[in-house]
Amino acid sequence: MKEQLTALKHEALAAIAGAEDLQSLEALRVRFLGKKGELTAILKQMGGLSAEERPVIGQMANALSEKLTGAIAARREALEAVALDAQLVREKLDITIPGTREAVGKQHVMRKTLDEALDIFIGLGFSIAEGPEVELAVNVFDKLNTPDAHPSRDWSDTFYFDRDSEYVLRTQTSPVQVRVMENQKPPIRVVSPGRVYRKDEVDATHSPMFHQIEGLVVDKGITMADLKGTLNALVEQLYGVGTATRFRPHHFPFTEPSCEVDCQCFKCRGKGCPMCKGEGWIELLGAGMVHPNVLRNCGIDPEVYTGFAFGIGLDRMTMMRYNISDLRLIFENDLRFLRQF
Ligand code: DAH
Repeated sequence: MKEQLTALKHEALAAIAGAEDLQSLEALRVRFLGKKGELTAILKQMGGLSAEERPVIGQMANALSEKLTGAIAARREALEAVALDAQLVREKLDITIPGTREAVGKQHVMRKTLDEALDIFIGLGFSIAEGPEVELAVNVFDKLNTPDAHPSRDWSDTFYFDRDSEYVLRTQTSPVQVRVMENQKPPIRVVSPGRVYRKDEVDATHSPMFHQIEGLVVDKGITMADLKGTLNALVEQLYGVGTATRFRPHHFPFTEPSCEVDCQCFKCRGKGCPMCKGEGWIELLGAGMVHPNVLRNCGIDPEVYTGFAFGIGLDRMTMMRYNISDLRLIFENDLRFLRQF
């Protein structure tokens, strides 16, 4: 049995030293030291030994068991160290490599002007109303008191959608007034921003698609003084306290009286400069007192209620605010241009 134990020792130590991973090492432990392992199998033959031999072989077997256990533990430690090294290499992180930068966009310059204007109106107590860009011609023209022969209805000015001329791409945001008044009882105080469309040739100041903000206030006892107060507040917030406004008589089918509103040139403060083409004034918007026919067309009694309305062109306002000389730049979406704002 001594020879058996010695042979086992050599074989087991060589196998343990050669184990290449933790699984095969565990298999060796079971093979040599397990309950049904090779050492146990040898010890089972001890019954056939003499009384003198038994303690000697027992001691040898114990020593071998300890030796193999120690060898397996040492090999496990070595294999674990190798595995850890491999993992460290695999997961190595070079924090000096430049990262991939997220491209954070920014607001389009048109959107900026729009938000600035909406902020001011919200501060004045207005809510925001939206309407569709493909709109009923009835809402764009008829209910807004526009005569049948009015030039704005012409096919050369307006994009019609169908042969019956029932739908158009809205030429103004004013039809949102109709939608609001038909769906909401006074008091009404809304602004409505959006895109509008006209058959204009593209040039430095024209585009077939442009932007407006419509305003509408309807309540008992609303007068032109309320219109002036509101628009003066807008201009002072846009261009500074003390900036003067000028109300000129004008004509719109949906207001009576109607006016156009200019503000004192914010560049030269009224002296005259290239920005205002020497005028000292810059045209801002159209406005007026809502025509009684419009109120009636939308189910509101003009004997009880009065109102004012206005329509601001946002594109020109953006060009002036950001000193942009050509409208086309705003819509071309060249990032080198847009990133400036
Ligand atoms: N819709 C007019 C336009 O596009 C602007 C306008 C003028 C709107 C007077 C109004 C208003 O609400 O009262 O030229």
